[in-house]
Amino acid sequence: MGKSEQQNKMGSAGRLTHRLLWGASLVLCIALVNGSCFPAIFNFGDSQSDTGGIHAAFPSFTPAEFPPYGETYFQQPQFRYSDGRLLIDFITTAMGLPFLDPYLQSVTSDFYHGANFATAGATVLPVTYLSPFNFNIQLLQFMEFQKNVMAIRNPKSGTLGRTSTTIKSAASTYSEKVHRLPLPEFFNQALYTICIGGNDFTYGYTKGKSPAEVEEYLPQVVDGIVGGIRRLYYAGGRHFLIWDAEPQGCLPYTLTLIHHSEQDLDEHGCLPRYNQVSVFFNTYLNNSLTELRSELQDSTIVMFSTYDLKADLIMHHNTHGFKHVNRACCGVPNEFNYDLRVACGMSQVIDNVTFASTTCSDPNEYIVWDGVHTTEAANRYIAKQMFTGKFFYPRFSKLIDYCNLGPLT
Ligand SMILES: *[C@@H]1O[C@H](CO)[C@@H](O)[C@H](O)[C@H]1NC(C)=O
Ligand SMILES: *[C@@H]1O[C@H](CO)[C@@H](O)[C@H](O)[C@H]1NC(C)=O
Repeated sequence: MGKSEQQNKMGSAGRLTHRLLWGASLVLCIALVNGSCFPAIFNFGDSQSDTGGIHAAFPSFTPAEFPPYGETYFQQPQFRYSDGRLLIDFITTAMGLPFLDPYLQSVTSDFYHGANFATAGATVLPVTYLSPFNFNIQLLQFMEFQKNVMAIRNPKSGTLGRTSTTIKSAASTYSEKVHRLPLPEFFNQALYTICIGGNDFTYGYTKGKSPAEVEEYLPQVVDGIVGGIRRLYYAGGRHFLIWDAEPQGCLPYTLTLIHHSEQDLDEHGCLPRYNQVSVFFNTYLNNSLTELRSELQDSTIVMFSTYDLKADLIMHHNTHGFKHVNRACCGVPNEFNYDLRVACGMSQVIDNVTFASTTCSDPNEYIVWDGVHTTEAANRYIAKQMFTGKFFYPRFSKLIDYCNLGPLT
């Protein structure tokens, strides 16, 4: 016992030193990024990049606020759908920026380096599936945010309405709040990240729609994303990074929802027809973004191919240190460690039988955390791959060549 206690102490001392060093390099990075990189990020999306938005809106109703969410990195739930950091957290950290605070989070938020409009369950289509904050609502929230920031930052501007007058007088009283808001030019200089659309697929599948039926409406989903970029462009945004759809046929969620037999699976244990739906979406997205680039010529519009990245990870998972591809670390023990009725961390009695979620002993061996979302280890791997630049279409020179990206640990 004495020995393990000593090891613990040494471990935390090591971590502390590490944090101090990392803190020092953060300060350095922030000095470097001004002028060379992106001073802020505005993120739109679903649970893949929700850093606490849905929790802020519906406290005590969301799985990610309960253990074991967050256990690996934060040692407690941090309202993220993972055991640790999300890809967006690794991105901000590498760029020398703090974690993004959710737009909906009052009291403690600091938006100087951007804001996060993502909420778990959000769709692009104007429906309320799991979250009422679909992409259109997130865009409206952004416009409201920008209007209010501009009113406080530029109180002399004459073009502002009634709300702004109230804010103007409030601004003089609460001038210290200004430090928590982005500079006006940040709206132009920021990186706009958009990671949404996955729930538009599952919205159809949960209603019993076939892959072909889902493909019928996916062009509308892409049009919604393209329309959103256009609106952000006219609001001053110039740098856009858009996630494509991952191979959805490999997720424990899809494998559980869709009744199938062994013959329906490919050699990686995925449902190929459901991966094809992702490819269908991605081809349409890729083509639409090409058109948008010729329309908005003074902007950078880059697609991040999570499909190619994850397909490669699934194929070569052993080489990259992962043992399990289609099995969740946290969930009700079964073939995929996933039960549609019982979330990670929960326990439920159904027809006199108790279904209790369990958590694997080493999340680092798993790609999937809770049946839908990736582990901290997978997110770190994905971030590292992202920063090689290999999975951007077209090349994202400003991020890769000029951002002075910090190491990811
Ligand atoms: C997107 O389309 C271009 C050609 O227009 C192609 O070269 C590229 O590989 C495509 N990217 C992806 C990720 O499909
Ligand atoms: C559950 O158990 C109770 C008590 O043993 C019994 O009366 C009831 O019929 C059971 N329900 C089901 C669905 O098996």
